[in-house]
Amino acid sequence: MTKVKDQLNRPLRDLRISVIDRCNFRCQYCMPADIFGPDFVFLPRNQLLSYEEIERLARIFVGLGVEKIRLTGGEPLLRKDLPYLVEMLSKIEGLKDIGLTTNGVLLPKHAKALKEAGLKRVNISLDSLKDELFGEINGRNVGVGPILKGIKAAQEAGLGVKINMVVKKGLNDSEIIPMAQFCKDNELQLRYIEFMDVGSSNGWKMDDVVTKKEIFEQLSERFSLEPVDPDYYGEVAKRYRYKDTNVDVGFITSVSESFCSSCTRSRLSADGKIYTCLFNGNGHDLRDFMRTGVNDQEIIERVCEIWNGRDDRYSDIRTAETVANRKKIEMSYIGG
Ligand code: GTP
Ligand code: 5AD
Ligand code: SF4
Ligand code: SF4
Repeated sequence: MTKVKDQLNRPLRDLRISVIDRCNFRCQYCMPADIFGPDFVFLPRNQLLSYEEIERLARIFVGLGVEKIRLTGGEPLLRKDLPYLVEMLSKIEGLKDIGLTTNGVLLPKHAKALKEAGLKRVNISLDSLKDELFGEINGRNVGVGPILKGIKAAQEAGLGVKINMVVKKGLNDSEIIPMAQFCKDNELQLRYIEFMDVGSSNGWKMDDVVTKKEIFEQLSERFSLEPVDPDYYGEVAKRYRYKDTNVDVGFITSVSESFCSSCTRSRLSADGKIYTCLFNGNGHDLRDFMRTGVNDQEIIERVCEIWNGRDDRYSDIRTAETVANRKKIEMSYIGG
């Protein structure tokens, strides 16, 4: 197998695939409703990669070292027949893990079929346990009930479940402890995510970030925590365990403690562009290239060239200047 390394000697291990840029939510920190309104132009159907095209690229990426695939959106469950894609991907030899990141609303409908198709894990976003606040954050007035149903459906289907909570100062930091208690009681792994400056529509300011240190201090007043070793090389979350339990809690510290040196993630947009960093707005087209009728070897060479040239480490070098002066892509377009 050809393995590729980038300019900072980082291998290619993960592929995050966005299958659609639409979402049924309008989370303030991701797709604010005033920007992503009724007139917002999403990608038309014919611009999306077909499942066959996604599978072909995924197979090539696995050949180059990818072991984990994560399906994202927008909201990936809005793409028709997603279990069919999961089934195609799960047949790729050498692929060890397939996960999905979702807002959870459509899980009661699809969890069982996804599991049967070969999906292993879901990461479900939940930012508050208060209906009103959660409805305000998700911009669609959806209460907590549908998400809890989604979580339950995923568990009953036998999928691994993690909960993602983006914390924004003054918005939902009052929910840090209630969410911890709820997830601990229900044996769910919660991950607190520092609000990030992705895209240019969420009005990010450093002052809005609640750092891992601040959250950890709050948790430490209530719970006894011990650090846990990473599950895999370059794991995004730093994890701790509640003493005398099997329950972990994690922190995704993109702002306060960057983790670029072990970043092995590539990202494929729904319209077939490869992005080498969440914060690098220059995508490398593979869709139109593929549609010219090239063979696998030609695609392999193109991907190696892209990965070999990669020198991104945005979170390591984030300053007020880089925040202001960067060509950006939206979170909903690239899936986090
Ligand atoms: P697993 O560890 O495989 O469960 O998934 P994950 O945490 O990598 O994926 P998920 O989609 O749940 O992402 C959780 C948060 O981590 C989101 O806010 C992502 O944007 C963020 N994230 C994931 N990968 C990266 C990365 O490479 N860089 C940065 N800055 N943030 C990332
Ligand atoms: N900062 C941090 N996390 C974000 N997410 C979406 N937008 C942001 C942001 N600006 C999270 C979602 C989801 C994951 C894919 O990324 O809540 O859990
Ligand atoms: Fe949709 Fe997820 Fe973005 Fe919320 S964070 S708007 S659920 S894609
Ligand atoms: Fe990887 Fe870019 Fe995130 Fe750093 S900022 S961890 S290079 S995606």
